[in-house]
Amino acid sequence: MKRKGLVFGLVISLIALLGLNIFAAKKETGRIIVGCDAAFPPFEYLDEETGELVGFDLDLMRAIGAELGMEVEIKNVSWDGIIPGLLSGNYNVIASGMTITDERKEVVNFSDPYINAGLVIVTRAGDDGIKGEQDLAGKRVAVQINSTGDLAATEMQQEKGIKIAEIKRFNHATDPFLELKNGAADAVVMDFPVAGAQMQASPGLYKIVGEPFTTEEYGFALRKSDTELLAKINQALVTLKANGTYDQIYRKYFGE
Ligand code: ARG
Repeated sequence: MKRKGLVFGLVISLIALLGLNIFAAKKETGRIIVGCDAAFPPFEYLDEETGELVGFDLDLMRAIGAELGMEVEIKNVSWDGIIPGLLSGNYNVIASGMTITDERKEVVNFSDPYINAGLVIVTRAGDDGIKGEQDLAGKRVAVQINSTGDLAATEMQQEKGIKIAEIKRFNHATDPFLELKNGAADAVVMDFPVAGAQMQASPGLYKIVGEPFTTEEYGFALRKSDTELLAKINQALVTLKANGTYDQIYRKYFGE
């Protein structure tokens, strides 16, 4: 009898140990590794004071992680190549102000949209010559490479017959603004909230021309095979919108 009890006890401990191991393994995969190009304030950027990667997308991703009981690790990667990096498994979510487009949907899955944005034309503050896309004829336009701003400028040039003199494509979204500031470009095509943040950071330098001329929605991008995590993220988004967390993060970066 006693012996049986001992064996029973051992078996139970073994199961408990195995169980713990399984639990630990689950915890390991319970990590969301996020890829972002952190030069896109206010959505993702480096906080110079704390050295931390912050921004609307990253706060939201961290809140999603907290909601799901998953750890969130952020990787700062280059925008051009951010989708290949996802596909090759360097991270499992792109949170990088990425507009949901049909073209991208062919290679990745997007979460439900988490914010709206649109493109604007930005000029130097004193420049009154550019009032809309037609006025970009003969001008040098700076964009971030492979962004929707790049696509829009390319479309103006190739499909709308607007004779843009040159489209200058840069790796970082902040570079086109430097180019504009230095007089090496005449206009920038950029996401409206990002243009707004650049204007705030350098008062008096830039001017936004009119209203956004596109309507875009940002989504988190995942590998097509990652349907389980996608569903969880969408579920967490619903919860965070309902419980006020989303609004809190929104106000932190965009005010009331
Ligand atoms: N919304 C634009 C796009 O999807 C630009 C995004 C750029 N994001 C970034 N973190 N640089 O193409």
